Amino acid sequence: MEKAFRTAPLGLLARWIFSELDTRDSVLGIPKQNFQVPGSRLASQLFGRTLAAPLGVAAGPHSQLSQNIVASWLCGARFIELKTVQILDEIEVSRPCIDAADETYNCEWSQELKLEQSFDEYLNGWVLVHALAHKLGLQDPGMLFNMSVGYNLEGIQHERVQRFIASMRDASEFLPAAIDTVAKVYPGVRDIEIPHQLSNHITLSTMHGCPPAEIERIGRHLLLDLGVETWVKLNPTLLGPGAATRPAQPDPWLRD
Ligand SMILES: Cc1cc2nc3c(=O)[nH]c(=O)nc-3n(C[C@H](O)[C@H](O)[C@H](O)COP(=O)(O)O)c2cc1C
Repeated sequence: MEKAFRTAPLGLLARWIFSELDTRDSVLGIPKQNFQVPGSRLASQLFGRTLAAPLGVAAGPHSQLSQNIVASWLCGARFIELKTVQILDEIEVSRPCIDAADETYNCEWSQELKLEQSFDEYLNGWVLVHALAHKLGLQDPGMLFNMSVGYNLEGIQHERVQRFIASMRDASEFLPAAIDTVAKVYPGVRDIEIPHQLSNHITLSTMHGCPPAEIERIGRHLLLDLGVETWVKLNPTLLGPGAATRPAQPDPWLRD
């Protein structure tokens, strides 16, 4: 099955979202009474920002497109692990590489978008959520975007991936145009100070078979060369078949 995967322009999404809210009390089909705003006791500070709830969506199709990010946020997600980006963004795979018509299938290298398109989706989602939070009377969206990059050091050091990371850390070159587009539909967006830093932290995603030394080299690069907060996504298969299938040892902390 081959189907072209096209992203929706920001202007169209803004018209859709704000007109649906005004005329039908819903957004992207989610009724207003189902919007979730976490209570204040769930809030914490993380990476210098307010995280309204320690809950969110893991990297995948639901954090790939701006409208999915908006839907996640409306349903209460506040920590958004964005879909992984990597240098190989033109590989030939069966598309759509995520098929969720019934059971969900995900083929390896499930990258649908080019790096620059991913950045646009994340920027658009960022501006739309800020505009919606303002429209809904919230002080702040209370949301963090967590970048996810893969899958090896050479790819991550490639100039296009480096440009992606740099733009996410400082989107001031691109933010004004996105705000102008949303302002045509929701002028109140101009009254908000939308941070130009979309994210300053990265979760490293690697594939099974990635040698531990390579993970360490990437971690050092992210921490020491770029100075971004870095988490490593642990995948049990990284341990290898022996360790991943060894029977669990009794946990000494659970002994009485
Ligand atoms: C369709 C699909 C796509 C995914 N894409 C990514 C990805 O791009 N990067 C990543 O680190 N994890 C990816 N994951 C893994 C998820 O982020 C998550 O770690 C995994 O699904 C385990 O969480 P769960 O038990 O809540 O599903 C993907 C998972 C699915 C099902």
